[in-house]
Amino acid sequence: MTFTRSIKIAPSILSADFANFGQEIQAIENQGADWVHVDVMDGHFVPNLTFGPPAVKAFRPHVKTVMDVHLMISPVDAYIDAYADAGADILTAHLEAGPHIHRTLQAIRGAGMKAGVALNPGTPAEAVTHLLELTDLICVMTVNPGFGGQKFIDMTAKIRALRAMIGDRPVHIEIDGGVTPDTAPLVAAAGADVLVAGSAVFKGGSVADPAPYGANIRAIRDAAQGAQAAA
Ligand code: DX5
Ligand code: ZN
Repeated sequence: MTFTRSIKIAPSILSADFANFGQEIQAIENQGADWVHVDVMDGHFVPNLTFGPPAVKAFRPHVKTVMDVHLMISPVDAYIDAYADAGADILTAHLEAGPHIHRTLQAIRGAGMKAGVALNPGTPAEAVTHLLELTDLICVMTVNPGFGGQKFIDMTAKIRALRAMIGDRPVHIEIDGGVTPDTAPLVAAAGADVLVAGSAVFKGGSVADPAPYGANIRAIRDAAQGAQAAA
């Protein structure tokens, strides 16, 4: 993975057909996805439950791009090795998931993965001030995590603050929640480079008819690229 700030679209398979993950992953990659975003929820840190390490390991052979695993679980540390074994390229933990995010990020890198830190809407940009050398990605939540299809919460000021803090460090800014062709330009202009999108990518398509996935990905990418270039 070479670091660049070009716009990357990371469809969330939270909006895929849960009986068909392998084919859904192949379909979104064939239709232009840059990364595959995998939402792990524990029914405790967030009020919803998805899947754990054995399922993520089963996704791995289908992912030809980058497997971006977003942990919405607490605690995190006891599961880091299991996600490394499952083949995560990037493992993101929530800053709010425990008292020792610094230790968690060290452990993720120590297990051979890129380390991400996610911030809930109520958490300020300044919370990562002392983590910038330990992280490869900051995920700015633009919904309260737990469910796909929620309304975008404007975190533009936070994104701008993070972009300024990061400077020329190789740290991605990822946006997660409510990303559509309408909201993508706002976050791209503010400094985001990775856009997660679930419902806006999967709507209208299926494994049998995947072309809408491609059109949806292109619409988000075009809107974001235009705004990034103009910023
Ligand atoms: C929310 C998840 C997101 C979610 C995004 O808790 O972390 O990745 O799937 O879904 P949309 O794009 O539908 O808001
Ligand atoms: Zn996510």
